Amino acid sequence: MTSRAHITGSTTTSIRLRPLSGRIGVEVLDADLEVLLEDGAARREVHRAMLDHHVVVMRGLHPTPEQHIALASAFGDPIQPEEHLPKHPDHPIICRFDSAGGYKADKWHTDGTFRDVIPSAAVLCMRTSPGTGGDTMWTNCCAAYEDLSNGMKALLERRKALHEQGPDAKAVHPVVVAHPETGHPILFVNDIFTRGIMNLPPEEGQAILSFLLRHVTRPEFTYRHSWTEGDVVAWDNRSTQHYALFDFEGQRVVERVHLTGGPMEAHCTSADDGDGDGGRDAIA
Ligand code: SIN
Repeated sequence: MTSRAHITGSTTTSIRLRPLSGRIGVEVLDADLEVLLEDGAARREVHRAMLDHHVVVMRGLHPTPEQHIALASAFGDPIQPEEHLPKHPDHPIICRFDSAGGYKADKWHTDGTFRDVIPSAAVLCMRTSPGTGGDTMWTNCCAAYEDLSNGMKALLERRKALHEQGPDAKAVHPVVVAHPETGHPILFVNDIFTRGIMNLPPEEGQAILSFLLRHVTRPEFTYRHSWTEGDVVAWDNRSTQHYALFDFEGQRVVERVHLTGGPMEAHCTSADDGDGDGGRDAIA
């Protein structure tokens, strides 16, 4: 089945889309780099497709680094990566992750949740593929929230969780956030960075967190991409988590551009969380 992208106010439909699974992912059929770089309507359509489907696959584009950055700008404003991350030697706005340098991302995560402000999206290009293996998986955290029971949704309302990467990289986010562009609720805890749910007895908090981390990565919410060199995949970093499989021999090199984001606000009707701090808990 193919579907046309729908864009309010757009008169052209210059890209064709094909869903990749029941709950997440869409492919741009016959993706044409020139169109994706130069046709404003096509660029708005892929951005809309990312908001609607969370992950957009564009096969065989082989962009130069400059074209990679320009393509990424269809989804937002490219931002400088964190200082400690490995960079492209000539284009430091591009992260280069090389398995030969020890890079691994084989745990489910949303990028940067240990900061108050997280990237809105990411655009990843496969530069050196190991041939077999090295797939990436994404999961739809809106679908994961949707499928929780009403009782669990009520229990999570106004809860916050601590996210941490190290002593200088900590942030508190609501457990259920509202997508800044679509307003949809997102289950916002991940395996690498979320340390615990706050203001609950530790045993209860850990039991609920363990359940949520299992639930959010149920196969029904996921898409798995088998890469060919030159493929580009864009994803919404707020509504998804991803996991790179390190099941291969040989080298795997990917390059990533992040797009500027913002703080994640709670998905609930009341502006205050009722604990007297105006909705912003201190890090415990
Ligand atoms: C990432 O974690 O941003 C990159 C995922 C991958 O290496 O496939």
